[in-house]
Amino acid sequence: MKVLINPYRPAFSSTRMRSYDADGNVVNCNYTNLNREDLDWAKFAGFLASRYKNEKNVKINLFGCSDGSDAYTLVLNLRRELGPEAQKFLPIEASDLSFEMIKEANEGKIYLHSKDLDYLRKIGADGDFERDYGEKTKIMRGIEFFPYKVSPKLRKCVDFSVKDIRKASSEDDFSNQVVIFRNGWTFNTLNDQDKIAKNLFKNSSEKTLVVIGQSDLFKSGASDALQRNGFSGIKSEIFTAKETNYPSKSIGQPLTKPVYPEFILFENRRPHEQRIYCY
Ligand SMILES: C[S@@+](CC[C@H](N)C(=O)[O-])C[C@H]1O[C@@H](n2cnc3c(N)ncnc32)[C@H](O)[C@@H]1O
Repeated sequence: MKVLINPYRPAFSSTRMRSYDADGNVVNCNYTNLNREDLDWAKFAGFLASRYKNEKNVKINLFGCSDGSDAYTLVLNLRRELGPEAQKFLPIEASDLSFEMIKEANEGKIYLHSKDLDYLRKIGADGDFERDYGEKTKIMRGIEFFPYKVSPKLRKCVDFSVKDIRKASSEDDFSNQVVIFRNGWTFNTLNDQDKIAKNLFKNSSEKTLVVIGQSDLFKSGASDALQRNGFSGIKSEIFTAKETNYPSKSIGQPLTKPVYPEFILFENRRPHEQRIYCY
């Protein structure tokens, strides 16, 4: 497949890189930020605490982590909501396809914009990131992104590696674990999405939790693929539906409307056993 940067749109540099195929479909994009608002992160942390209250240690696999923003947001909320008990979920195993993103994340580098900084101040976590005056501010799509270093204490809570969920889903055992792959399904073909869902189901158990993002509902077949392959959706107030849709088309976007109800949380449980969680 020929991959090129679309000459008609300003390409994000670094963490906001977007690449297109010759037909103008987005092949991949690393867009992310702290506290992505499709999730209520505090409620999500509380949900994890309750779902895994009897487990001593719980592995969180966060695929498609980009610069680590989702992973750090989750750590900060686990710490706030659970106190010392947060430790049983740490370190989060975060990974991404992109070697460049993981290299920067491993070095503790992250670019934050004013909304990220407002959020950190609001939750009292501004001390977990330190401005890196050795690097230049980046302007991406007209927005200033400031270079920061993640504090050693927070950086230790996330292990970063390069992984492709298409391969990992067929090889790893996710029994009783959390699998988060958010806002990245659409950069995989519908056929690959189906295989990922099938493999996750095969390698999961009743306590496994699978989490996707709002843009996966807008632009991919993730919710249908997971339910078609055996997962049941979990109704909860964790999903806020606050993100706005954006105009672009990607390689893994279905041409037809979803067949199954759209959820962002899933478990390996038959529908008649399904429970409704309220937080
Ligand atoms: C739009 S970003 C979303 C980042 C973050 N999860 C979030 O929700 O903000 C999608 C990320 O998924 C990654 N990705 C896409 N396909 C992947 C795959 N098959 N395996 C692992 N990562 C993948 C991309 O490299 C990109 O960094």
